[in-house]
Amino acid sequence: MLHCLALTKTYRSDRGQVDAVRGVDLEVGAGRYAAIIGRSGSGKSSLMAMIGGLSRPTSGKILIEGADLWSLGDDALAHFRNRRIGYVFQFASLLPTLRAIDNVALPLLLDRSGDKKDPYTRATRLLNDVGLGAYLDAYPPEMSAGEQRRVAIARALINDPALLLADEPTSDLDEQTEREIMTLLLQVNRERGATLILVTHNLALAAGAEQIVQMADGVIAMSRARG
Ligand SMILES: Nc1ncnc2c1ncn2[C@@H]1O[C@H](COP(=O)(O)OP(=O)(O)OP(=O)(O)O)[C@@H](O)[C@H]1O
Ligand SMILES: [Mg+2]
Repeated sequence: MLHCLALTKTYRSDRGQVDAVRGVDLEVGAGRYAAIIGRSGSGKSSLMAMIGGLSRPTSGKILIEGADLWSLGDDALAHFRNRRIGYVFQFASLLPTLRAIDNVALPLLLDRSGDKKDPYTRATRLLNDVGLGAYLDAYPPEMSAGEQRRVAIARALINDPALLLADEPTSDLDEQTEREIMTLLLQVNRERGATLILVTHNLALAAGAEQIVQMADGVIAMSRARG
């Protein structure tokens, strides 16, 4: 499903050059659940953003379902991302001036081919699924951090993605909320067969994954598969 080949990401700014990802080779099979761990600054989010089609690699290649992600043109890349990938961001990513339901429906509303069911019917169902049926018309600033995360997860699921990328989706949340969100993500992995890649600092969460990838200083320091 996913192949990363000799992937690198270098940031250049006034402060100099940062080699955030330095030659990562990674393979994750279809329907698998992989966890990425590693210290702050080790390159986890940088790697995820490249896999998610959000940040162009400095060099190397990413194949998703056989498609060479970064050789697609801008439109094709946007379409692929919208259709096949769900992304739960590390930091707040909802549009504060749109209601929860608008935020969730947005990817479908933006998808020109629009051969899916009514975006609002689907968004309503997903918000119900994440336990926010009473918050359809709420605006993100009126919701708790955990509720906002759940809206972001519903949004990531609206296109029924084949690849679900979640970058520390439970950081800053209490244990109970963390468990609920993990249950939700694992349900999507098991029941819909989506490939799940989760970045986490929680080693107990990572221990439940079929594949554990440890990043250190931009490289994969350890990769272990089970089952
Ligand atoms: N846009 C950017 N411009 C310059 N440097 C960046 C940029 N984004 C990230 N970096 C640097 O790249 C390195 C890797 O950052 P990254 O966000 O990938 O780490 P991370 O493993 O996700 O950390 P955390 O666990 O804190 O989220 C860090 O040294 C960071 O300062
Ligand atoms: Mg990060």
